[in-house]
Amino acid sequence: MSAIAIVELTAEQTHPLRLSVLRFDTVTKDVAFPEDTWPGARHLGLRVGDGLVAVSTWVPRPHLGQPAVQLRGMATSRAAQGLGHGGTLLEGGCQRMAQGGTTLVWARARDAALEFYLRHGFSVEGDGFIDQNTQLPHHLIVRSLA
Ligand SMILES: CC(C)(COP(=O)(O)OP(=O)(O)OC[C@H]1O[C@@H](n2cnc3c(N)ncnc32)[C@H](O)[C@@H]1OP(=O)(O)O)[C@@H](O)C(=O)NCCC(=O)NCCS
Repeated sequence: MSAIAIVELTAEQTHPLRLSVLRFDTVTKDVAFPEDTWPGARHLGLRVGDGLVAVSTWVPRPHLGQPAVQLRGMATSRAAQGLGHGGTLLEGGCQRMAQGGTTLVWARARDAALEFYLRHGFSVEGDGFIDQNTQLPHHLIVRSLA
């Protein structure tokens, strides 16, 4: 049984999984997000044994005037999806944010992943929209950590 651990990453270490999971079928192939280098931004990954199987980025960014953290770039390697790794990283990330005083996490979730987030305590806010970068349908989602 391989050891599973949540690890801190650099933005660059998230790029291979962002590219192969989030950008393989999109018009844009851009894997660097402007928010990657914002103050307080953290990149968290899930290692299983020696392999990085999931990545996520957590950026301090208010939501509707309330202090919050935006979750971006959540991706599990295609070979490892559906095994619970994304859920482990999402829960571990929320736990770390809560420990740091964050009370609200929000994200622009792809509709294809909406069920995943709803099962992890997020709820949908407002109508769906098409994301300009990916041209994919999205919804805004929020989760209270308070
Ligand atoms: C969305 C994503 C990050 C979820 O990561 P994941 O590692 O597949 O997530 P999990 O395995 O924890 O959960 C996914 C599903 O597997 C199921 N699952 C969880 N643990 C499981 C296990 N031990 N065995 C089998 N299935 C399991 C869950 O029920 C869940 O189903 P749901 O999608 O209906 O909620 C991942 O599928 C992904 O990268 N998708 C493509 C990119 C994407 O859409 N990213 C989100 C952008 S907003």
